[in-house]
Parts: sequence; structure tokens; C-alpha cells
Amino acid sequence: MNEWWRTAVVYQVWPRSFQDSDGDGVGDLPGVLQRLDHLSDLGVDVVWLSPVFPSPQVDNGYDVSNYQDVDPLFGSLADLDALIQALHARGMRLVLDVVLNHTSDQHPWFIESRGSRESPKRDWYWWRAPGEVPGAEPNAWQSLFSGSAWQLDDATGEYYLHTFARQQPDLNWESPQVRAAMAEMLCWWVDRGVDGFRLDVISMISKAPANLLGFGPRLHDYLRELHEAVFAEKGLLTIGETPGISVAQAQRMTDPARRELDLVLEFEHVSLDQGATKWEARQLGLPRLKQCFARWQEGLAGTGWNSLYWNNHDQPRAVSRFGDDGEHRVASATTLATVLHLHRGTPFVFQGEELGMRNAGFTALADYRDVESINHYEAVVSAGQAPHEVLAALQRMSRDNARTPVQWDGSVHAGFSTAQPWIAVNQDHVEVNAAAQREDPQSVLAHYRRLIALRHDVPAVALGEFALLLPDHEQVWAFTRTHLDVQLLVVANLSDREVEADVPDTGWADAELLLGNLPGGRGGLRLRPWESRVLRRTR
Ligand code: GLC
Repeated sequence: MNEWWRTAVVYQVWPRSFQDSDGDGVGDLPGVLQRLDHLSDLGVDVVWLSPVFPSPQVDNGYDVSNYQDVDPLFGSLADLDALIQALHARGMRLVLDVVLNHTSDQHPWFIESRGSRESPKRDWYWWRAPGEVPGAEPNAWQSLFSGSAWQLDDATGEYYLHTFARQQPDLNWESPQVRAAMAEMLCWWVDRGVDGFRLDVISMISKAPANLLGFGPRLHDYLRELHEAVFAEKGLLTIGETPGISVAQAQRMTDPARRELDLVLEFEHVSLDQGATKWEARQLGLPRLKQCFARWQEGLAGTGWNSLYWNNHDQPRAVSRFGDDGEHRVASATTLATVLHLHRGTPFVFQGEELGMRNAGFTALADYRDVESINHYEAVVSAGQAPHEVLAALQRMSRDNARTPVQWDGSVHAGFSTAQPWIAVNQDHVEVNAAAQREDPQSVLAHYRRLIALRHDVPAVALGEFALLLPDHEQVWAFTRTHLDVQLLVVANLSDREVEADVPDTGWADAELLLGNLPGGRGGLRLRPWESRVLRRTR
């Protein structure tokens, strides 16, 4: 079994905001090509490219109208081929983000399906008659993007299911034809040279009657079928996005012997206190956060493998959410990175995270572009919530926080574009940008470079056994990693007050300092605000 990804680091490119090459204010594939030095310098192994397929862009490409081409907004198929080649020439791999749970309502399959109740593609989607009350939705399922998950289609008087926006109808994977079409499409991409797939909300492809989040009875069958038809023995990397997955389910899904997926993206550590909605934004406190990581470490220690992430295109910026994006921006961004990258699993870096980029800081509804945010605003304001409260919630949790252009330099559009970008550049780009960090050994960027190199060079970082220390400590995140005769101790101060990391075994005081995020300091286990250290000793 070729599990090369166990020592790899994945970097997510969200192309719309990465680099614009043609001056239309929208990032594109030639733009990604222009910035490959940044990725090689960082040392990442895999690029996960968010969707670039033709799309009406209702959900920024997660509404696909043709799976086998590139949207002119982003370039051409030839540009994508060139990107694959250029990445390969630099020893990097490309993982495509594919959306298999739903299509755009402009996909020819859906247009055909909605044409008539007798359409040969009718059962490619979920059509249902109105509920018992005439004209009512078939059931009470709510879309994750606000409102009912059912949309009445006047042409045939039936409703179709959409877990996300109404322009994103869910495919019916019960249909063997749908499954065959998907497998064929994925094989076409494999033949074109891609090295794997990130499978958008893959846990939803099998529906369960009581739950819109999926995990239906045939999920494992469908995954095994895809594995057999597409992934098997090709050395690909497959990453399933699986909101709501439990440790036990993840263990099954990533057990190599079951031939389903290599990695899953779980959501527990970015979830909120029980009962809170996303928009209430109540974070897990430190003890629960680190215990959550530890549970996943333990759960996938023997069988399966973890994914490690703080950020992606759906989450607010880590330094604003879990760190301190004011006085301690650099220290907290580097400490969050240290704890994440020193866990066992495959780490993910989302564009701009390696610069310590902050949340967008938008104050008006007109600043936002994301369909989820805009729908939410409209739904709750029309239900009576005060607009300023909703704007405050968007400021903390909107997905647009992650989607502002990458800050390459301090110039007017941050080096992202020569034109006004499709979404505003964060005003802090004058201070927070790649050009300012590239040569600065104390920068967030330099720290990410060191962390990625450490994973490649020190087997204990990639492979060592994990043990959490001080599980209930409110300020300190501490754990060990043990591989053969090498032991690492990670100690981090997740607060703005000095603290002594009183780990049980005192023998660490004069161990070798492998990596620290702050220069100087007193050494040992006394930690300044947001300081983190990785120590090494041989047993
Ligand atoms: C996933 C994507 C998200 C998208 C949704 C619907 O959660 O990461 O961006 O909106 O699926 O495709």
C-alpha cells in the first residue's frame, strides 16, 4: 500500500481569490501558475484546488454545470493541464475538488430531469410530490443555506431536494446510472493526470430518512464502488468532506482494508458548544478543544488516519477565531500552527493562513458575497432579528472571512489583481503580506516553512504516537509524540498571560529545543504569551 500522504502537507488553493492574471478582479489558473514559487518555497506536497469547473457561480463553483471542463472565468482545460504538469515538475501533486452530492440547476442532467415526470433522467434527482397539505413541502427538512430544502418546480408540480442553495439540486445516488456517470467522470480526470480528489460533502450521497446530513445506509457501499471503479491501486489521495462524522465512522471510512477513502475532514473541533448554532459562534474552550483533538488522535491511532486543519474556504480565519488577531497576531498564528502541525495526521494549510491573515472585517451587508451569509441575513432579519446583531455574527462566522484575496504585497490590490477585486481586500494587507514576510525569519510564513520541513525531516512528527498531557489546563496545550527512541514534547501557551507548563515528567528542562515560535526567552517550560516550543530528547 502506497500511503505517501502520511508524511505530506496539503495546501488549499481557492482559485477565485488566489491570484488574478488577466485583470478582471477574479483569480484564475494562470494566476496559480504564476505563484508556484510561493508553494515550493513553503514546501507543501499537495495542492487541493477548489472547483474550477463551468458553473453559474451561485456557490462559487460548488454548483457545477459541467464536470469535464474549466470555467472561462478561471481559464481553460489547457491551463489546468499546464498546472498539473508544472506541479509535477516541482514534485507536487494536484487534488481536484469534486462535488458529487449535487449539481448546478443549470447542469444538462438537471435540465433534462426537470423537463417532465417521464424524463429518463427524472430519477437522477430527488423529486417528490407535495406533502399532505396541498402545496406544502414533502417534509420539514431545512436547507443548510436557510429555508426549506425543497423547491417547487412549476413545470411538473413536484418538489426537488436541495441540501444547499435552491440552485444546487441533490443527485440521487440510488440510481446506478448516476453512480456510473460519476465514476466515469472521475476516471477521465485520473487519465488527465490528477493525483486525487477532495470529495465535497461525500457523506451526504446516501440519504437517511431522519437526517439531511446523510450517512445513509448505502454510504459505505457507494464509497467502495467508487474505490473499485476509480481509486484502487493508483496511488491517489482521496479526502472526503464529512460534516458530522464520528470517530467510529471515520475509523471505518479510512481503514485501508475497507477500501473506501484515505482521509476524512471531520468538523468536531470547529464545532460549537452544544446547542449553539454556527452564527452564535460559541467556541469550545481550550480543555474541550484539545480533548477533542486527543480523542481523534486516539481513535485513528491504530486504524485509519487523521486530517488536521484550522482553516478552509468555509471557516473563519484561525488567528481571529482561536488566536488573538490584535497584539499577539504573529505569536498566536504561529502557536496555533505549531500545535496543529505537531499532531499525527496530514495537515492542511488554507491559502493566506501561512501569512497569519485575519478575518475580513466587513461591516455592511454589501461587503458580503457568500450565498450562505446573504441568505442567512435575509432569513433572520425578515424574521425580526436586529440587523446589527446579524452583521456582528457574519463578522465572526461568515465564510467570506476566508475568501478575501491573498495578500501578496502592500500595494493597492495587495498584488492579487490590477483591477478592483470581486470581494474587498482586507485593509490590513499593508502590514500583513507575503512580500513583507518572505525574508523575515520571525514571520508567520517562515514558521510555516519550518513546520512543514520538520514533518518531512523528523519521523516522530509524522508518525510518532500521541499522548495528551494536562488535559484540563485552561492555558497550556501540551502533548508528547514518541517514535522509536525519540520523544518530542510540545508545549504551547494559548493565552496572553505567562505560564509555567508543569508537565508531569520534569526531565524536559534541558532537552534540545527543536522549534520555538518566539526568539529568545528563558527557555525550559516557562512560556510567554502565545509562546510554543517543541523539545526533543532521546530515550
Ligand atoms: C461543502 C463546501 C462548501 C459548499 C458546500 C456545498 O461544504 O466546502 O463550500 O458550499 O459543500 O457544495
